[in-house]
Amino acid sequence: MEDFLLSNGVSMPKIGLGVYQVKKSQEDTIIWALQHGYRRIDTAALYHNEALVADAIKKSGLKREDVFITTKLWNSDHGREKTLAAFQKSLERLDTDYVDLYLIHWPSAHYAESWQTITELYHAGRIRAIGVANFEKEHLEKLAQNSDLIPMVDQVQTNPNMQQRELHRYLTDHHIQHEAWGPFGHGNQNLFRQKYLVGLAAKYSKTTAQIILRWNLQRNIAVIPKSVHPDRLQQNLDVFNFALTDQEMDGIASLDKNSRRFVDPNNKLFLWLSSLIH
Ligand SMILES: NC(=O)c1ccc[n+]([C@@H]2O[C@H](COP(=O)([O-])OP(=O)(O)OC[C@H]3O[C@@H](n4cnc5c(N)ncnc54)[C@H](OP(=O)(O)O)[C@@H]3O)[C@@H](O)[C@H]2O)c1
Repeated sequence: MEDFLLSNGVSMPKIGLGVYQVKKSQEDTIIWALQHGYRRIDTAALYHNEALVADAIKKSGLKREDVFITTKLWNSDHGREKTLAAFQKSLERLDTDYVDLYLIHWPSAHYAESWQTITELYHAGRIRAIGVANFEKEHLEKLAQNSDLIPMVDQVQTNPNMQQRELHRYLTDHHIQHEAWGPFGHGNQNLFRQKYLVGLAAKYSKTTAQIILRWNLQRNIAVIPKSVHPDRLQQNLDVFNFALTDQEMDGIASLDKNSRRFVDPNNKLFLWLSSLIH
């Protein structure tokens, strides 16, 4: 597994396993992934599977320090006291005394106060790297104005139809690692069937899923594809032995439709409603 180096010098595996919607009955697939090369897991308080992740790591035979764990602060937990309590609960469910990467899940109300609290936890050595998810340029600028630390990672929806090119330039300029959530558009069959991607897959004897992951990596974007099938888990790691040409990268760039498959991070109704969910 290759790593990206975050701005604070922490190494983060380029590919992680996303576990959104992965259930207890699918624990074996997390164990399988860890035993076959995955060294990073992306969970969140909202996914209600942090304890499952902790169990799977133990059962995999790997040590805690061998696995890079990302978890996230949910929208109902913003503000200093709630952030501290939510972080502590995540640690307990993950059965660990530190988190490798802690992200603010969405820019809901009071995110700047939560960020301040998270920077204190970082300075206290409880978190190895800190970041955000679903933050746009304006949210990042607000943090920069109010804090001594800017995020090391921004995890945003990114796929060939939603490339985040403007935000990507901003993140690159500010040494914030861009990470793609939903790299397959949440398993969007229309994406997998796009003619240009299918053509590249045939050329390289790869699948369209592998072309999409490779395209991300060549843009210096970290990926966290989710799968509960060993053949796909393996496929999603097997992307380091070929390279797309500049012309092919440009070809994929032309597939951008700026089309979200999920809500806009500035949608106030979503941010408010989601902050009522625990
Ligand atoms: N920060 C955020 O707000 C946010 C939001 C959404 C997601 N995330 C994170 O990002 C991770 C990934 O996003 P996602 O789970 O929404 O979707 P995704 O990774 O884009 O797509 C997952 C879907 O693709 C299928 N799949 C996986 N590998 C495949 C392959 N090689 N060929 C064909 N199909 C394949 C999976 O099916 P099977 O499982 O049946 O194989 C599943 O249906 C999440 O698990 C979560 O950790 C973060």
